[in-house]
Amino acid sequence: MNYCVVGLQWGDEGKGKVVDILAADSNVVVRFNGGANAGHTVVVGEERFALHLMPSGAVRPGTYCVIGNGVAVDPAVLIDEIDRLAEKGISIDGRLFISENAHVVLGYHKQEDRLREESLGKAKLGTTIRGIGPRYSDKVGRSYAIRMADFRDMAALKQKLKKVLDYKNKIFSALYNAEPLTTDGIFAQCTGYAERLVPFVGNTTRLLHELVLEGKSILFEGAQGALLDLDHGTFPYVTSSNASALGMASGCGVPARLVDKFIGVVKAYTTRVGAGPFPSEQDNETGQYIRDRGNEYGTTTGRPRRCGWFDAVAAAYSAAFCGINEVAMMHLDTLAGLEELKVCRAYKINGSETTFFPSDVAQLEKAECVYETTAGWDTDLSEVKSYDDLPQQVRDYVGLVEAIIKVPVSIVGVGPKRSQTIFRK
Ligand code: GDP
Ligand code: IMO
Ligand code: MG
Repeated sequence: MNYCVVGLQWGDEGKGKVVDILAADSNVVVRFNGGANAGHTVVVGEERFALHLMPSGAVRPGTYCVIGNGVAVDPAVLIDEIDRLAEKGISIDGRLFISENAHVVLGYHKQEDRLREESLGKAKLGTTIRGIGPRYSDKVGRSYAIRMADFRDMAALKQKLKKVLDYKNKIFSALYNAEPLTTDGIFAQCTGYAERLVPFVGNTTRLLHELVLEGKSILFEGAQGALLDLDHGTFPYVTSSNASALGMASGCGVPARLVDKFIGVVKAYTTRVGAGPFPSEQDNETGQYIRDRGNEYGTTTGRPRRCGWFDAVAAAYSAAFCGINEVAMMHLDTLAGLEELKVCRAYKINGSETTFFPSDVAQLEKAECVYETTAGWDTDLSEVKSYDDLPQQVRDYVGLVEAIIKVPVSIVGVGPKRSQTIFRK
């Protein structure tokens, strides 16, 4: 079976945990979008791994890890992750494969991301400052892009870097009055990156096609979430890649037809980091209650996440355009202790009700949620092992969401551990 796991909200839904669990039955885990802006948490026993670029299958020895062409590879972050895994006794030798066509994130991308955000003041997007926007812009712009394959020919890379930095330094100086970066400095870093990473670089599209023919089980792991998708999310408050299931095929060279099941991950509530509209946000005691209980602080940047009620209008939209077969709903345990729970079933925009997620962010900014209210529960769910043993209120809550989004919830999370995940029969 080939699965594709993507977030259906604004990221941090618990994809890392779901991928780690499904990876038990997969031969290969493939990342196809995003970069070190992602932070996927995997908890194994007492050990907690925060993965940014390594596919979440990395913690399972023997599982192949593929970083597809759609991923923004920050070599410094990737090398650090490889080293941290090694410190914990996990080797990726012989099982990590990086696409030669994956574009690279270098220091000047991060500098440009930071300078642009600073210059925008209140209008900033709240990016992770991981160089994502500038790196994807360079890819689309083509003339100043560096790919993993470029690390194979250092003499040619030096010439390319010189051209890139001549251009970037003009921008830094003219727009931001910032100090120039030197080609020698960036080139010296690249020399170290090349030594460590070139052994893993190859044609991953060909590899994946061969693995498909061999009948291997492949798990495709999305980063971010569908509402942060560059084309279908809440533009401009999105990331710069296709962070939905639609980015899978282009981001690794495997057609969507080969995926047996698309699994959409949601939290039992909604969170968002960074700027942008969030109709069901609870910037109040309820939001703080969820933040505290769910430990809602960014895996990558440590920023407090904005929290709110489950937005079923948004989730129904994401599930529809991602072609989701089943939903995994995490963090049900976090909602315990709230007297009543709300689920947004429609928006009121300019006085009229709609159940369709608006594609224009200006409309979304005006949206007021129309809620369905249901009873909460006060039970600790963290030790519950089967769906039928969950309190009736929990099952009613899940049923309410299913009825609105029209996709079955087949997996639920009652804690961060592998064992705190319930598969519904
Ligand atoms: P990702 O980016 O989608 O992989 O999600 P993150 O790792 O950024 O954030 C999800 C957080 O929730 C992590 O700290 C997980 O360990 C934690 N988590 C995942 N599922 C559950 C769950 O069902 N209950 C609780 N309490 N925590 C969970
Ligand atoms: P995972 O994979 C949550 C958000 C940022 C910001 C916007 C643009 O862990 O779910 P960027 O740095 O990509 O240019 O920032 O996107 N963002 C995420 N939010 N989870 C993520 O990844 C995110 N990756 C980017 O906070 O609002
Ligand atoms: Mg995350």
